Amino acid sequence: MIILAIETSCDETSAAVVKNGKEILSNIVVSQMDIHSEFGGVVPEVASRHHVTSITKVIDKAINDAGIEKSDIDLVAVTKAPGLIGALLVGINAAKAFAFSNNIPIIGIDHIKGHIYANQIENDMKFPLITLVVSGGHTELVLMKEHNRFELLGCTQDDAVGEAYDKVARVLGLSYPGGPIVDKLAKEGIDSYNLPRPYLQKDKFDFSFSGLKSAVINLIHNSKQRNEEIRVNDVCRSFQESVTDVLVTKTISAAKKYGVKQVMIAGGVAANRGLRNKLNDNIGEFELIIPHVKYCTDNAAMIGVAAHYQYLDLRMYDKMDLNGRPFSELGRD
Ligand code: KG4
Ligand code: ZN
Repeated sequence: MIILAIETSCDETSAAVVKNGKEILSNIVVSQMDIHSEFGGVVPEVASRHHVTSITKVIDKAINDAGIEKSDIDLVAVTKAPGLIGALLVGINAAKAFAFSNNIPIIGIDHIKGHIYANQIENDMKFPLITLVVSGGHTELVLMKEHNRFELLGCTQDDAVGEAYDKVARVLGLSYPGGPIVDKLAKEGIDSYNLPRPYLQKDKFDFSFSGLKSAVINLIHNSKQRNEEIRVNDVCRSFQESVTDVLVTKTISAAKKYGVKQVMIAGGVAANRGLRNKLNDNIGEFELIIPHVKYCTDNAAMIGVAAHYQYLDLRMYDKMDLNGRPFSELGRD
């Protein structure tokens, strides 16, 4: 089965061609990062407009680079939720137009499901498994007992972890997106600022990072008022240690509670070296699956892989009234 996948949920315009749920024949990602960095974050309307100007070129390139003809495509997959609604609608309408004009069925895919299935590209899922989903919009632990069945064990009560990274970077005067920069500087710093570890209830799997973020903001403001030097690398390291302590402790404790075979990570923050290393050091008897960095941040290949397994399982297409939604319903039903 050859799937053309389209992803436009935030600030990446992406299209990919995926064969049999494994082979990534092409994966084109056009990032708008430079445009939004001027504003210190993604401006939704600006994102939609740039998707409009890029989408057809990105789809054409994905098909050309894959070395296939339009007539080889069996299914068009597109991210339907969660995301910026205007951005999602550009991808959905492009997918509908392509599917309609080429007489190909269409299927809408949850973006979080896509992030989870990025792990299936270079590995094979073994159930039961848990995935720690950490992105700019989500922080959640998801249990899977089989393909396409998701149980939400816990999620953030306030800020997503990527959002907290980006805000900490902003108050430190670093550029957007802050996650990769904080990660890089943390490597050069020492965990010397004694930041809190927001565990909430240790045996529960919900998260909260807004208090930690405020602790960093207060620390920086207080230091500035007292004319004290801010050791940027140490702030980054202290913040990263606090975040990863909480994420890793809760993930391992959920893995034990549910007796899983595999632990996976997904989403943009899964690219974080501190998180990858700490999970590796603490994984114990579980098999740890970590996707390639290029499949952690938003891309259409992961949507194509998720679509393959969704179609195999449900054997259902969507209709032309397929619509976008800002929120994910994954594991919440
Ligand atoms: O999954 P993603 O590309 O988009 C969403 O679906 O949100 O995640 C983007 C987020 C941003 O907040 C970015 O700062 C963060 O992932 N991120 C990182 C790293 N690389 C990207 N955060 C921490 N460390 C990284 N190396
Ligand atoms: Zn994402």
